[in-house]
Amino acid sequence: MLSEQTIKIVKSTAPILAERGVEITSYFYKSMFEAHPELLNIFNHANQKQGRQQTALANTVYAAATYIDQLEVLLPAVKQIAHKHRSLNVKKEHYPIVGEFLLKAIKDVLGAAATDEIINAWAEAYGVISQVFIDIEEEMYNQANWEGFKAFKVMKKEEESSLITSFYLQPSDGSNVPTYQPGQYITVRLSVEGEQYLLNRQYSLSDAPGNKYLRISVKKEGENPTTLGKVSNYLHDHIGEGDEIEVTAPAGDFVLDTTDAPLYLISGGVGITPMMSMLKRTADEQKDRPVTFIHAAKNSDVQAFNEEVDEALSKLSQARKYLIFENPSEADRENNRFDAEGFLDEEKLKALVTDTNASFYVCGPVAFMKNTIENLANIGVKEENIHFEFFGPSINLKEY
Ligand code: HEM
Repeated sequence: MLSEQTIKIVKSTAPILAERGVEITSYFYKSMFEAHPELLNIFNHANQKQGRQQTALANTVYAAATYIDQLEVLLPAVKQIAHKHRSLNVKKEHYPIVGEFLLKAIKDVLGAAATDEIINAWAEAYGVISQVFIDIEEEMYNQANWEGFKAFKVMKKEEESSLITSFYLQPSDGSNVPTYQPGQYITVRLSVEGEQYLLNRQYSLSDAPGNKYLRISVKKEGENPTTLGKVSNYLHDHIGEGDEIEVTAPAGDFVLDTTDAPLYLISGGVGITPMMSMLKRTADEQKDRPVTFIHAAKNSDVQAFNEEVDEALSKLSQARKYLIFENPSEADRENNRFDAEGFLDEEKLKALVTDTNASFYVCGPVAFMKNTIENLANIGVKEENIHFEFFGPSINLKEY
């Protein structure tokens, strides 16, 4: 239990941390990696370069400080992060390292303003916050299908569009393929030639559970793979059938509910991957559940899974598909391959959403998600009915 005095200090200094949060967390990562370069085998270097991880950590530390005396408010957010940590094999022994360098960063960046009293209060608060994470993660480790990374063999590699390729994976040791909930992801870890550290990325499972494989569908990212898209380019260009990659057990809490409420699956670009898992599961197990599948893509060249979506929708008794192309080709126009042109704006959503009490699942690029979530709220959908997942660190979409 934290003392009244500690709580008071932490709460009153939280706004200073918020103001200089990114500065503090940038300094924190730099000094931690200098002292513990082995941690670069866990962290995503691209997120670091873009400052996304620094922002995510700063926001969370600020939120935790603000709610230090009622951390249960933050439990849903903590659980989401804990899934990511578990999926990356973050262990309890890592927490004191992060704590040490976070406190050092607060001290060094704030200078004289960070008195011993303040630093001690933050040290105590970090102890409480990290214990919440450690306890939740321990439970998740106990429930996971296997511990740490396990070798999987690529049994099939299939192009889904000019940018997206699927990899079908089976455990190399012949063990059973784990079950999972539609919407969950796995971490893929690669040792890439020329890279000093291992590279980790999360990919949603893109097929229904219950198959003899795990399927991920990877978008080739970035024009220049030296900065962005190192892992996706490597997978596309160098990993083929018969090759092995390491993966952790399925994780994540962006998962399909199995109520009979009408279902809206809304995706942009490669955000379609978790939707495939959700759609196919529903088509197999809840054939009478009304489903509206909304997908936004540039055009049919880059659009993945069109036939697979149609096949799944055909199994459902009440199904609707709505495609929006931002930049349709001539052939798309001639063949009526899309329902609307441009973006998924409020007007289009309003016309599509006939039941604001339905369950809404949203996944796609950050701008797409922000707009869609805002638009859903504007047309009267309650927050608790909107589920979403960011690819990459979730940077402050929700205000606490
Ligand atoms: C991701 C917070 C401790 C390693 C994250 C994210 C947040 C966060 C907010 C982004 C989640 C997302 O992707 O949506 C925290 C807090 C901690 C803590 C508040 C302490 C109380 C640790 C520790 C480690 C760690 C001890 C291991 C050394 C990571 C990694 C990611 C991550 C590797 C994935 C993001 C990336 O690689 O870019 N954490 N974390 N975290 N965290 Fe932590």
